[in-house]
Amino acid sequence: MDLPLSSLAAVGLVLVLFSVYSRRTARKLPPGPRGQFLVGNLRDAPRPPEEWKAYAAMSKEYGPVTYLRVLTKNVIVVNTMQAVTDLLEKRSAIYSDRPQLPMVDILGLGPLISLLPYGDQWKLYRRALHQLFNETAAKKWRGVHETWNARFLQRLADKPEDWWNLTLWLAGANIVELAYGREAADHNDPCLMLGIQSLEVASHVASFGTYLVDWIPALKYVPAWFPGAQFKRDGLMWRELAMRSKHLPFEQTMKDMAVGTSRPCVSTELLDRQLGAVSLSEDDVKNIAWVLYLAGADTTLSAMRAFVHAMVLNPSVQRSAQAELDRIVPRSRLPQMSDRPQLPYIDSVIRETLRKYPVAPLAIAHRLMEDDEYEGMHLPKGSTVVVNSWAIFHDEEVYPEPHLFQPERYLRDGIIDPAAPDPSGAAFGYGRRVCPGRHVADAELWMMIATVLSCFDISPSKKADGTDIIPSSTMCSGVVSMLGEFPCKMELRDEAKRQLILDEVERVVST
Ligand code: HEM
Repeated sequence: MDLPLSSLAAVGLVLVLFSVYSRRTARKLPPGPRGQFLVGNLRDAPRPPEEWKAYAAMSKEYGPVTYLRVLTKNVIVVNTMQAVTDLLEKRSAIYSDRPQLPMVDILGLGPLISLLPYGDQWKLYRRALHQLFNETAAKKWRGVHETWNARFLQRLADKPEDWWNLTLWLAGANIVELAYGREAADHNDPCLMLGIQSLEVASHVASFGTYLVDWIPALKYVPAWFPGAQFKRDGLMWRELAMRSKHLPFEQTMKDMAVGTSRPCVSTELLDRQLGAVSLSEDDVKNIAWVLYLAGADTTLSAMRAFVHAMVLNPSVQRSAQAELDRIVPRSRLPQMSDRPQLPYIDSVIRETLRKYPVAPLAIAHRLMEDDEYEGMHLPKGSTVVVNSWAIFHDEEVYPEPHLFQPERYLRDGIIDPAAPDPSGAAFGYGRRVCPGRHVADAELWMMIATVLSCFDISPSKKADGTDIIPSSTMCSGVVSMLGEFPCKMELRDEAKRQLILDEVERVVST
């Protein structure tokens, strides 16, 4: 009997659907909200602001590892440190890829190591970054941090009400010198401004799920003029900005090298470097410097501003930190890195800042490279793996009363308690993708926090009626999360501190 072609196609379709259905039911996916026909959990996928809180609420209902299907994409959300350790750390060989986001391609951000798939190019760039920024090598850049920190303190003492912009300048100046050997101007430095604008865009675009095209990749072929294709128009406009940030600062460094005026920095160091049997091409070096420029400034900036926020709201913590500094650091100078082992309370303030205000609340999404099984659940190959760092840091079992800012939770008998959980590991990400800039960031942050506490009192600004302005604690969405701008009062603790700051500026300039 001859069957018409359409009937054959219908039978084929039923068989395919049946086989997909039976595969799904045979292998138990992690629990999650019930999806709808075709679109799956499109409606359940949390949206900004603070979508990490919605993921955490979901995990309370369904468990530490939850599953969403959004259209054709499998998304696994990991909400506890135990599950992160079991999956992203212990099985890092298959959890270290990145999902490929169409908007990243549209903007030309693909060669950034933070977005590269797990493969040879990524490994080469990681090796280069490891050589420059491992725990020992990172000490080499301390002079850079000290210089900019001293100049920051001087500017802060002169104009404390400008603290919001000055923290941006400090984080940016550190990174443009590190990446390109450039000295940032005090005002409107073009290199710094270009970096800041580009990284805002990159953070927005690299945050998984921001755009519909992340869920339906075929949309990237829609022409820019098509009604509703705003993402494409935005993408092409931002591409121009992203390309300027990639090429301009690096080309300037190359010109400086040609005439012998360049300063030692990541770009100059890597151009001469042999990595095993491989040497980096000029384009590779450009890509590596570019990622520092985009990944190294607003991350540290977010933590610096969070620290100020915490001090505004927690005067007793501030007093304890200042008491420790006053006890340990001689009155004749500012705190230095060599004082750090004697200042456990300051370290605890940093830990608590990174915990309470996670810089990257959902880290950067990973991608599962092979089918996996975990506690009887099937985790499908190709899934986007989102780690909810915010949930990990607000786990009441691990950090009782997590909404409180309590550096004491890391201390016992006045020293760091080795048994206390340390959030400064997870704050920098997971497995093979852990942040390569963490030692640099840690040093920069420590210097800023210790010296600001030593020199300034931080308190709330006042309203016209004399009551305190309580800043909002809401953090914006994006790969890098940031508090909204808030005013506060910064006052020199006494005039002698001004002289100490000037002495420090003189010291760093002369070395
Ligand atoms: C407080 C400051 C910082 C925090 C909290 C932070 C946090 C993170 C996190 C959570 C990730 C994602 C890890 C993952 O995928 O699991 C990451 C990646 C990365 N960070 Fe940082 N970061 C900071 C500062 C820096 C600095 C100063 C640099 C450069 C000098 C840097 C360079 C990078 C790079 C290149 C990656 C991508 C790594 C990869 O995909 O292999 N970060 N960071």
